[in-house]
Amino acid sequence: MTKETIKIPDLGGGEGVEVIEVCVAVGDVVEQEDSLLVLESDKASMEVPAPKSGKVVSIAVSVGDSVSEGDAILELEVAEGSDEAASESEAESAPESESASEQTPAADDDTDGGNDRAGDAQSESTAERTETVKVPDVGGGEGIEVIELCVAEGDEVSEGDSLIVLESDKASMEVPAPFTGVVSAMLIKVGDAASEGTAIAEMRVAGATSASDAKVEQTAQPAEKADAPVSAEPEPKREASAAARESASTSVNSTSPAPAAQGKQVYAGPAVRKLAREFGIDLSKVSGTGPRKRIVKEDLHAYVKQLAKAPAAAAGGGIAPIPDVDFAKFGEVDIQPLSKLDKLTAANMHRSWLNLPHVTQFDDADVTELEDFRREMKKEAEQRGVKLTPLPFLLKAAAAALRANAKFNASLSADGESLVYKHYVHIGMAVDTPAGLVVPVIRDVDKKSLWELAEESAELAKKARERKLKPAEMQGGCFTISSLGSIGGTGFTPIINAPEVAILGVSKLAVKPVWDGDGFQPRKMLPLSLSYDHRVINGADAGKFFTELAQMLADIRRLLL
Ligand code: COA
Repeated sequence: MTKETIKIPDLGGGEGVEVIEVCVAVGDVVEQEDSLLVLESDKASMEVPAPKSGKVVSIAVSVGDSVSEGDAILELEVAEGSDEAASESEAESAPESESASEQTPAADDDTDGGNDRAGDAQSESTAERTETVKVPDVGGGEGIEVIELCVAEGDEVSEGDSLIVLESDKASMEVPAPFTGVVSAMLIKVGDAASEGTAIAEMRVAGATSASDAKVEQTAQPAEKADAPVSAEPEPKREASAAARESASTSVNSTSPAPAAQGKQVYAGPAVRKLAREFGIDLSKVSGTGPRKRIVKEDLHAYVKQLAKAPAAAAGGGIAPIPDVDFAKFGEVDIQPLSKLDKLTAANMHRSWLNLPHVTQFDDADVTELEDFRREMKKEAEQRGVKLTPLPFLLKAAAAALRANAKFNASLSADGESLVYKHYVHIGMAVDTPAGLVVPVIRDVDKKSLWELAEESAELAKKARERKLKPAEMQGGCFTISSLGSIGGTGFTPIINAPEVAILGVSKLAVKPVWDGDGFQPRKMLPLSLSYDHRVINGADAGKFFTELAQMLADIRRLLL
């Protein structure tokens, strides 16, 4: 093993570039090309990749440091004789860092620019002139993707305001406006591949009679002299234009009802932009906490956490989050953390409730005969060592109804394009446990006897309460039964266990007077509620399923048919 000092590569002449992110820590093992640092000048950010694989022994820079070519970044312990153990100079000229540095527009002060300056040296003139703003020298990079348009036609921009953001594999850079004026035409769009000289926009630039015109004169002049690239502002101007850019963002917003992504200046490094793209995050909605409100990775994490906390509101559902109340203000409280299972259940319930249009239908099944039969069988059940509750009957009847009503035994495909009909009948049963709600699944319910179902449901409920269920025993359900009958209640609206399309809620059996045509008879009535996904099942389907189910429970001989 040998130690090698990894240094800042050629930054294209840029001096004192700020370190905005250190991507590694002491002890990390890095692969060649892994990002070590993210640097940022006024106009571009770039990642400095590892020129070779190895272990980080020490780090010589911190966030906020200003670095220049040749400054030590870190010491890397590399394998001796490894191909990658290149010389320092090779390390410094790793292709990525080259391109990153070369793409630093700020470093190109002396390079030929691509601006047509139609009104050359006319800053004193009061006449309006049209300027075509072109992509500056981007260090030889060809076909760099336009990832953001920061302005739209009609926008007033100040010199230094970002017009577009370009992004290569390793660096992203903002191309600022070289003048103050109005964007009269956008000549480029997101996704275009840009190279030096590609036209970005046409700008109407005013004469020098107003305050803003004076600024045009001030900032445009050096560029005119050197015919410099759009980004090539003399050093002292950079701070001023950055400030102008920030203060100008309000006026850009107010004059242009452009989408949020176009209305707000976004400062973020390539790593952050890449991450945001991967997660589909609109960076204009993220608040940056870095220098100049730059968005750092932590800001993305915080934003995602915030989304997770208030998914509906954040997703644009228009639902305001529940206010955070200090309950202790009103009396003594005790805060108990939720179990993992509780949190998972909450998330699943919420997801299902928001994604599936639920309709719940209610009915009472006359289970007088079923209950008589069940009582008759009690002794035999005891001999067999099982308890015959109403549940096995409900399972059996539901399985028959699912077989007869195939849509209830189906799931909507994730893309919403098709229905997946299942040729098996696996039914989940909600079990209340001290750790939370779990739903073990009884397989092939339609093929099992009442005894088998009684035995298996009791066994699975016991396993659930003892937290001994295996994941496979909770998967593959086609339909769920949630029985609160032993607890109480006259009815409830169960939430569908998506991607299933229906769930049966069972409440407490009660003796009710039922009219038989001649008089009221005392009948044992079982309150049932059926919630179904209205995308898949319509009211008539549900009525048929429910009637058949109730009929089977009313006369269990029908289960034999
Ligand atoms: N009406 C009246 N009594 C009922 C009933 C009903 N609908 N359902 C069950 N009972 C009776 C049973 O017959 C039994 O009485 P018994 O001992 O005199 O025969 C008693 O209530 C207890 O039954 P239980 O042991 O709970 O068995 P079960 O087969 O009815 O239910 C579970 C098994 C696992 C479903 C049940 O224990 C459970 O956990 N239920 C809660 C489900 C839940 O939390 N759902 C909410 C989802 S949001």
